Amino acid sequence: MQETTRPESSAPAASAGMASGALGTKPSGRVHIPAALSGDLAGQPAGEPEVADPVFSCRSVSVFYGEKQALADVTVDIARGEVLACIGPSGCGKSTFLRCLNRMNDTIPGARVAGTILLDGQDIYDKRQDVARLRARIGMVFQKPNPFPKSIYDNVAYGPRIHKLTRTRAELDELVCTSLQRAGLWSEVKDRLHSLGTGLSGGQQQRLCIARALAVQPEVILMDEPCSALDPIATARIEDLIEELHGTYAIVLVTHSMQQAARVSQRTAYFHLGRLVEVGETDRLFTNPRHRLTEDYITGRIG
Ligand SMILES: Nc1ncnc2c1ncn2[C@@H]1O[C@H](COP(=O)(O)OP(=O)(O)OP(=O)(O)O)[C@@H](O)[C@H]1O
Ligand SMILES: [Mg+2]
Repeated sequence: MQETTRPESSAPAASAGMASGALGTKPSGRVHIPAALSGDLAGQPAGEPEVADPVFSCRSVSVFYGEKQALADVTVDIARGEVLACIGPSGCGKSTFLRCLNRMNDTIPGARVAGTILLDGQDIYDKRQDVARLRARIGMVFQKPNPFPKSIYDNVAYGPRIHKLTRTRAELDELVCTSLQRAGLWSEVKDRLHSLGTGLSGGQQQRLCIARALAVQPEVILMDEPCSALDPIATARIEDLIEELHGTYAIVLVTHSMQQAARVSQRTAYFHLGRLVEVGETDRLFTNPRHRLTEDYITGRIG
């Protein structure tokens, strides 16, 4: 049953703290977050986890690193073409959730994923799933720009070459050019395509990584704090880019900036201690949160 009214929804927060004995208000007025998962937040998140015709449909997704449970029972849909912002305190499972969506957790020894994740109605954890093909459908951009130590051209051409997306050099040139244009980088690099990607500025490197993700023509782009290493001007460029790309691609954006979530996303998901507490339309969630924990976070009482 969804928790929708605030007086009732504050009860699990209080009892979660009492169960662990650690959720107490600090002198600063902020709430101390216990290190263990709260069992009292079980069930459907508050808000609107489901959408019609989702690109991704996650049901009761849990992730374990060895014995430790990092994500518990996450149920949420991701709509086609939307930007879904994932917010929440450090360690709450945002990156873990993101990595479930392209099976990046497979690469972590001891990591185990339970539950169901459907991409266009197909189970991405099915034994017959070709993981390389899956990752070609889902681009990923990381916190720290990580261009390959190759030329700008070869960075963008890398995915199309591996996945044999083009037949001729002219087609590859075209794809590299359009990917760099879409990433808003073309005019800055068109005269030095054969210089090293690692020689670009941080903001340019991040746009190069976005171009590299776009070049494999993904359906979804996962971004894990893509602006946290960037200055405000480079951040604004990436935010403009997210704005332009949404609609064509679904984008799942992990961010520590609530202002950024409010600026660029249509829906926001709030995570807390491995649980998805609430998800819904961004404007609604920030102005009228349905769960007490969401309210505590957005008003700065948890942080
Ligand atoms: N490879 C790993 N092995 C063991 N535990 C891990 C691993 N990666 C993450 N964890 C644990 O899982 C929990 C969730 O981590 P995760 O990185 O998903 O959080 P996050 O919300 O992305 O945090 P941040 O905002 O700091 O990036 C944390 O308790 C973390 O210590
Ligand atoms: Mg993270």
